[in-house]
Order: sequence, then structure tokens, then C-alpha cells
Amino acid sequence: MRTRLDGIVLRGAREDDLEQILELTAARGGPEDLPEARAAFTHAEGHRQFYVAYDGDRLASVLTLWQENIRLGSTRLPAGQMDFVATATDYEHRGLARDLVTIAHGVSAERGDILQILVGIPYFYRQFGYRYVLPMPGHYTVRPDTRIDVPEGITVRDATKADLDTLESLQDRVQAGAIVAMGHSDATWEWMFSSETVTLRLAEREGKAIGTARVAPEEDDEHRALSEVATSEVGVVHALIEDARGASAARTVQVTERADGTVRSALSGLAEHGDSGDEFLLRIPDPVALLEAVRSELSQRLATSPFAKETGELLISFYSSSATLTYDNGSITGIAPGPAMQGPVHGGGSGVPPDLVADLVFGPHGAEALDDLYPDLNLGRRRGLMSVLFPPQSADILTYYLG
Ligand SMILES: CC(C)(COP(=O)(O)OP(=O)(O)OC[C@H]1O[C@@H](n2cnc3c(N)ncnc32)[C@H](O)[C@@H]1OP(=O)(O)O)[C@@H](O)C(=O)NCCC(=O)NCCS
Repeated sequence: MRTRLDGIVLRGAREDDLEQILELTAARGGPEDLPEARAAFTHAEGHRQFYVAYDGDRLASVLTLWQENIRLGSTRLPAGQMDFVATATDYEHRGLARDLVTIAHGVSAERGDILQILVGIPYFYRQFGYRYVLPMPGHYTVRPDTRIDVPEGITVRDATKADLDTLESLQDRVQAGAIVAMGHSDATWEWMFSSETVTLRLAEREGKAIGTARVAPEEDDEHRALSEVATSEVGVVHALIEDARGASAARTVQVTERADGTVRSALSGLAEHGDSGDEFLLRIPDPVALLEAVRSELSQRLATSPFAKETGELLISFYSSSATLTYDNGSITGIAPGPAMQGPVHGGGSGVPPDLVADLVFGPHGAEALDDLYPDLNLGRRRGLMSVLFPPQSADILTYYLG
């Protein structure tokens, strides 16, 4: 808890903050956010993830910090995700959101998160060290008059909590091909099973689970959003679309793509494609800690590269800090933090601005393309090795929000 000079108190939320939090969320995010906010707050001690700013007994600002898990290759990284950020209009521009974001980042760092991810208010979070890194998937719009051939023998039903392991394994299978992946946290699954707005559907053939998707209503009954489609079969995508169209097949269904490409195979040529035009933002508070956390992944890349038999050192300067990686026989044997360094290329190293580290490690460009894009990202003579360690990445991210 902290009291600001203007008397506003910043603290973790308590159970009796619920009504004011819902009121503020509805006022700033819209009433459609209410069921989600209520479920998130009341489920499994969910209120502990909310942070609030109070002026006397009036709630002035709120935000939530979820616990997430982001996979890079086979390495799992704990991550934080902020959500439900809102300040009452008569308290705006007094630094309340900034103060709550600082608290959330402190909590995230203390519990060991290596990075933070979020989707949100345009531009706003860039002020707090976030960077647009992971493109959000596009979608296909399936109109009511589009003919969809559904194979025989597939049934689709509501998934229940008892199906959780099945849903997770279907999602894991689809995400297996993506180098960067984030599944739903336990809290998000909990919320989805209890949500009034989201339905999880499960496709089966002869009692065997063969696909799933998340269905949400759009503004009216004539539209449905079908996302998180997880199946290896094009016919199952069609069955899930037919299911979302409803009995009269009169609805337009917007289907979000996945990195594995099954939705694309099912709908290209059949439905109009649109880009999301949006990206997930990432924040890396400590580049050296991130490199240490993904060290075994980097070793695997080295071991399957032309550098596999070499021994040496790789200096990477983040300008305001630096790190020296030692490697030997296909393994990164050490990562030593170092001081600020202005001219790493002259010293035989590479320079990576700290705000480009998220892009370097998780983004779709890879080291070589970033070197071409940014004048202060310089791989120097270590271009070859840096390209092996930091190739372009594919990503598949599931979030609380519909992607
Ligand atoms: C965006 C919002 C959270 C900002 O809250 P706030 O308490 O006024 O923010 P702060 O005063 O802490 O602002 C921090 C900085 O961001 C700037 N800022 C404020 N609103 C901004 C916006 N919408 N976009 C960009 N910058 C903004 C401020 O100028 C300030 O910069 P400074 O420190 O250099 O002066 C608030 O306007 C809001 O609740 N908006 C609606 C929320 C919403 O749309 N939620 C959707 C669901 S996530």
C-alpha cells in the first residue's frame, strides 16, 4: 500500500471493492466487459490480481495483473499480463494509471516474471516499455450464403470443466508447431467455463475429441466470432463453423486464424480474408535475465548450426547494459552480465537496443532483418552466429481477449 502526496491510496484490491470496480470498468471499458470482470474478480481469489487507487472511499483507477506462461521452443517463461486498466474520467491525467502500472510491474518482477505481454489501448503502453512485437492473427468472414460442406459423423457439443484436459491437449497440439506460444492460464479456463458470453465447443467423432473452438456473440444475433479453433482436420473447421451458424445457418461467422494453418486451408477461396492490423505488446524488463532464462533454447539452436563445434565468446551490448555469452561444442556455457557499452561492434560484438530485445527474441523478423531495419541494431561481424541464435519466430497466443 502507498499513499500519494495528493492523498490517493494505491493498494491491492479487497473483496468489497467489487461493486466500484465493476462500475468503473463498465464506465470506461463498456458494459460488455462486466461479466468477464465479475467472473475474473470472484473466481478463485481473483480479486488478488486487481490493484486499485482510492480517493477516500471513491475508486479512481484500477488494473489487473494476470499470471501467464509463455513458451519459447521448449522453455516455459513466467509472464505477467495487465488487463482491465481504467481511470475515472475526473481523475485522468494525474498519473494514476502510471502508478498502478509501476505497482503491477513490481509485483510481476518480484514473483519472477521474465516478461510481460498485453493487448490494449493504442500506443498507451509504449510509454511503459512495451513494444508491438507479435502480429495478431487475421480472420475469415464466412457469410450466410457461403456453402460449407461438413463431413458426416461429426457432432459438436458444449465443453464442460470435465473436458479441460482434452481442450488443453487439443490446443497444445495446434501450438506445437509455433516456436512462441501462450496457452490459457488456469484462471482463464475457469473464467471461460463460467462466462455468460463465451462458449467452448467440442467436436467429436465416435466419442473421440477431434477439435474445439471458442464461440462468442458479436453485437447482434446475426454474427458470431469463432476463435481458438484447434483441430488438424479441415472438415472439423467446417463442422465448427456450421455449428456456430446455428440452426437456420443465417449467421455470419468471423473465424480467427491460427499459426498452424488449418483454418487457412479450410477457408481460403471460400471466405473473405482480413488482417487484424494489431499486435501483442511485449516488455522485457531485464535482457540479461531473459537470455539466461532461454539459455537452453539458445544452446539447442547452436547445437544444430554450423557453429556447433566452435568455442568462443559473443558480446551483446544492450547499450545501457551488456552480456557476454560463452559457448563450447554446441552449448552456451555461461552468460556474464557486463556494463553499458556504446560501441560493441568495434569490440567484435553486436549491439541491440534494449527496446528491440523483445522483437529479437520473440518477433517474426529475426536478427538479420532487424539489423537491416534499425540503424542502432548492429550485428557486426557476429551476424552469422546472431542469426542462428535469433531466427524469425512463429507465434500462437491465446488470451483472455478474443484474438
Ligand atoms: C488510458 C487511461 C487508463 C489513462 O489513465 P490515466 O490515469 O489518465 O493515465 P496517467 O495519468 O497515468 O497517464 C500516464 C501517461 O499516459 C498519458 N496518457 C493518458 N491517456 C493516454 C492515452 N489514451 N493514450 C496515450 N497516452 C495517454 C498521460 O499523458 C501520461 O503521460 P505523462 O506521464 O508523460 O504525462 C484512461 O484514460 C482510461 O481509463 N481510458 C479508458 C480505458 C479503456 O479504454 N479501457 C479499455 C479496456 S482495456
